Order: sequence, then C-alpha cells, then structure tokens
Amino acid sequence: MENVIFWFSGSGNSLLAAKKIADAIGDCRLIRITEKTVGEKISVEADRLGLVFPVHAWGPPDMVERFILSLKTVNARYAFSLAVNAGSVENTQGIVNKLMKAKGREMNAFFDLRTPGNLGMRRRFDAESAAAELRKAETKLFDIIADIKARDTYPMPPVTVARRILKSGFAHAMVRKMARGFDKNFSVTDSCNRCGECVRLCPSGNIEITGLGKVIWKHCCNACMACISRCPRKAIRFRNADPENCYRNPLVKNSDYE
Ligand SMILES: Cc1cc2nc3c(=O)[nH]c(=O)nc-3n(C[C@H](O)[C@H](O)[C@H](O)COP(=O)(O)O)c2cc1C
Ligand code: SF4
Ligand code: SF4
Repeated sequence: MENVIFWFSGSGNSLLAAKKIADAIGDCRLIRITEKTVGEKISVEADRLGLVFPVHAWGPPDMVERFILSLKTVNARYAFSLAVNAGSVENTQGIVNKLMKAKGREMNAFFDLRTPGNLGMRRRFDAESAAAELRKAETKLFDIIADIKARDTYPMPPVTVARRILKSGFAHAMVRKMARGFDKNFSVTDSCNRCGECVRLCPSGNIEITGLGKVIWKHCCNACMACISRCPRKAIRFRNADPENCYRNPLVKNSDYE
C-alpha cells in the first residue's frame, strides 16, 4: 500500500515539510487540501497517512478541519499529524485527533515544527533570522522523518486546561468564523501584471480577475496567505504594510503547489 500525505500550506513552510517527508519515505502521494478535495469526500487507503498543515489561531485551519470531517473512510497502518507553527500550538493536535477519532482512526504520532511566522507584517523583513529558523526546522524535521519511517508513536504535547479552553477553544472558534472575511485586509498595488498566479494558488477559489483586469477577493477566504506571499510581483498589500515585508518560504516554488 502506498503512503499518502494531505497538505495545506500558504507561504510554503508546510508544503516543504510535506515534500521532504514524502521524498524520504518514498512511494508517497502528496495531495493538496483545497475546497475541491473537501468536496470529493475521499476514502483513504494508506500504509502511512500524514496530515501536514500550519497552525491557525491555536488550531488547524478551517479547511483542514472540514477536510477531516469530509473523509468517507480512513484505513491506514500508521497515521501522523504535523502541525507547522510559529511557536504557539496549544491544543491543535487535540482538535485534529478528536476529528480523526470521529472517523474511527486516531493518530499514532503528533509532531510539531517551528518555522518563521507568516502572519505578522514586520516593519522590516529579517531574511537572516528567517533563514536561521528554517535551518533549525530542517534539523528537527530530520528527527521527525526518522520517527515516521520507523512508524514510531509520538505523544500529544501537554497543554493546560485554561489554554485548551480559552485559546484552542473560544478564540480558535471565533477566528475560524471570521476567516472568510480575512481577505478584506488585502488590496492590489500597481505592480500587478494580472498573471493569475493568485487565482491559481488560492485553495478556496476565492480570487477572480474581472473583465476590467481587476483582482478581487470574494470573501470565502481561508486566511492561508498563499496569494499574498506567493505573488511573483509582490503586488498584494496586507492593510497598509509594505508588501516587501511579507514572508514566503524561499525553498518552495509556486510550481510546487500542484
Ligand atoms: C491566520 C493565521 C493564524 C496563525 N496562527 C498561529 C498560531 O496560533 N500559532 C502559531 O504558532 N502560528 C500561527 N500562524 C503562523 C503559521 O502557523 C506559521 O507561520 C506556519 O509556518 C505557516 O505555514 P505555511 O507556510 O505552510 O502556511 C498563523 C498564521 C496565519 C496565516
Ligand atoms: S499574483 Fe500578483 S501580479 Fe499576479 S494577478 Fe495576482 S496580484 Fe497580480
Ligand atoms: S484569498 Fe488568499 S489568503 Fe484567502 S484562501 Fe485564497 S490564497 Fe489564501
């Protein structure tokens, strides 16, 4: 039976991790989680099954939660979840496991990987510290891959009751509800050449270029940041931040988002 990894990624950190795991374990199909895959109601048959995704507001992104709920059946010899984050995971893995349990297949291993943050628009982007953080992440990923290869179990990280309820409970649910309108923060600058990459990369089908050549967002956003961070012209602005300060994983190409 082949290995299967489902991935969700905006600025490329989770995509890079998923690709590296897939290369290392071999015979692995990488499947991007998008609105389309959610709609397909997939039946999973896998030797190793992986979920690789960024932490969004102390939990999994809304689309990842809906994807797990959409699965028809899950049959896997070994299942792992990798929460890619910027330092605050809280009960993300508890949420994932609860959803998987409802599908009859709890996870065997829960990993987390600290990477550069892609949400805050820094006053000045510090490429050197992002590169140092990515090097650290690469070393940790090496250990994670060894565990996945050996099908080792790995426990969920401990989290206090208060943090589970306040951050991964109330706050996460509230931010999830607001994610659709997250795109109201975006605007397009004159650098846009209407290449259509943002339309192609959006997992929600949330972006359109009108007949008049204007890029518009349709308010069914998943707050993934793919459009803003992968725009080849850096033509998308978050509020009034300088688009040059937006993070993107430098080791991932737009063509990797298949
Ligand atoms: C809307 C949003 C919410 C986020 N919330 C958290 C969070 O609660 N905790 C955290 O550690 N990182 C958070 N992050 C940062 C991402 O998890 C982190 O930068 C990750 O590496 C992004 O992965 P990607 O490049 O695959 O999208 C958030 C990012 C976004 C866009
Ligand atoms: S990816 Fe950037 S340059 Fe291309 S259409 Fe979208 S906003 Fe314009
Ligand atoms: S509009 Fe941008 S941030 Fe929102 S889901 Fe699409 S690519 Fe992600």
